Amino acid sequence: MTNNAKIVAIVGTGLIGRAWAAAFARAGWSVRLWDPTEGAAVAASIWLPEALADLHTAGLLDQIPALDVTCPATLQEAVQGVAYVQESAPERLDVKLALWADLDRFAPIDAVLASSTSAIPASRFTEKLEGRGRCLVAHPLNPPHLIPAVELVPTPWTVPATVELAEAIMTSIGQAPIRLEREIEAFVVNRLQMALLEEAFRLVEQGVCDADAIDVAVKDGLALRWAFMGPFETIDLNAPGGVRDYVQRYQGIGEMLFPQMQWRADWAGAALERIEATRRAQLPTAELPERTRWRDRRLMALLAHKKRTQTDLGD
Ligand SMILES: NC(=O)c1ccc[n+]([C@@H]2O[C@H](COP(=O)([O-])OP(=O)(O)OC[C@H]3O[C@@H](n4cnc5c(N)ncnc54)[C@H](O)[C@@H]3O)[C@@H](O)[C@H]2O)c1
Repeated sequence: MTNNAKIVAIVGTGLIGRAWAAAFARAGWSVRLWDPTEGAAVAASIWLPEALADLHTAGLLDQIPALDVTCPATLQEAVQGVAYVQESAPERLDVKLALWADLDRFAPIDAVLASSTSAIPASRFTEKLEGRGRCLVAHPLNPPHLIPAVELVPTPWTVPATVELAEAIMTSIGQAPIRLEREIEAFVVNRLQMALLEEAFRLVEQGVCDADAIDVAVKDGLALRWAFMGPFETIDLNAPGGVRDYVQRYQGIGEMLFPQMQWRADWAGAALERIEATRRAQLPTAELPERTRWRDRRLMALLAHKKRTQTDLGD
């Protein structure tokens, strides 16, 4: 890909959009920021250099590249001549439907059009579009400039070359693409996350433990291994004979448990009262933004550690 082709339009510049902007700018791309909310694109353009400076300080970026970031007045100007569009507008089908009609009308026919949607298959808002073959989902985790995994989910009409190109672009900017073979609501990452959250809500609702205990179980337990190997590699090492041995030994636990899990927890009911009381006692609402900055610093330290130990100890 030539340098001229390295122009991205970030459409919707909230939490996810601005972090996408940092991921592309970090890799030397020219970035166009567009958001219909007054001042939102400019706010993202002010945040962006700080985010890159933080990456540099954390040892995750050798050199801060010269920034070429603009905030065009219209969507039409923002997408003109770009190689790639990352849409990060609110998670509402009506919003995506209207916006994607405009994206299809204004964006170059050879540009990749990707949505950050958390759960909506892109077929629901691209079916009627003339250039629908260049559309797909590129679902990140928050924030994408610090968490590399990104799910690439084609619609039934996404042409294979679009997926190939999206994968090449994501890899080139430092993301870790996961390719899904077909659409499914909420893709892979959020299905896994929702399954864990559902059981966590159930446990609190039943009075088995409080929110704090769940957080410890993950951050000082499961997530330590998951930070550098997935659940399948984890179980492969949890029985002397590997994954088959694990299944023979422990499948019975699942057989006992899963019938007990066949009811929906009420996320908004008594469990929420307890979880919110625990959380707000630990962190007043006003301190959420500062805690988010702390989270990003911890993520950067973890990434730097992973980079170092990958070199020292291997993958
Ligand atoms: N927050 C997360 O953890 C997370 C993670 C992965 C994916 N996502 C997805 O990313 C998308 C954006 O989420 P977010 O967390 O950044 O929300 P956000 O509320 O922080 O940002 C949304 C932005 O979209 C703008 N906007 C409103 N209407 C628009 C329109 N018609 N066209 C373009 N922009 C518009 C808003 O002004 C706002 O700046 C959603 O689809 C969400 O599901 C979110």
